[in-house]
Amino acid sequence: MQSYGEVAVEQMAREGAVVVFSVSTCCMCHAVKRLFCGMGVHPTVYELDHHPRGPDIHRALTGLLLSSSASASASSIGDGGNASLLPVVFIGGKLVGAMDSVMASHINGTLVPLLKEAGALWL
Ligand SMILES: *[C@@H]1O[C@H](CO)[C@@H](O)[C@H](O)[C@H]1NC(C)=O
Ligand SMILES: *[C@@H]1O[C@H](CO)[C@@H](O)[C@H](O)[C@H]1NC(C)=O
Repeated sequence: MQSYGEVAVEQMAREGAVVVFSVSTCCMCHAVKRLFCGMGVHPTVYELDHHPRGPDIHRALTGLLLSSSASASASSIGDGGNASLLPVVFIGGKLVGAMDSVMASHINGTLVPLLKEAGALWL
């Protein structure tokens, strides 16, 4: 059975071409939003610290990241800090990962095609 958080994450991740789960005080989250805005992409952003079910959603995201190969940085979640986990980025409803995965895709040229496929970029 899926938890509230998993169901919510799946629904929220489909609500935009690019969806960012963020915490308003996290600087990597600001950096990823700036990166997308600089590319002309306007992501749907959920600030978990302002969301009534933020902790449930956060727990579900942690589980998703740990069970996917998308993020090598997920291994550092254990020490109780969230900073390395968030932001979590979905493109076209698919989990891309945290800031490091987004940057790696940007650098190797796979991010832009992914954004176009999702309808977030037209150029
Ligand atoms: C982790 O994130 C949650 C919100 O999802 C927040 O309530 C909590 O304070 C954060 N913990 C740390 C250590 O930053
Ligand atoms: C580009 O980087 C992403 C993120 O690390 C990775 O998933 C993908 O396989 C890489 N693609 C290529 C063609 O190197």
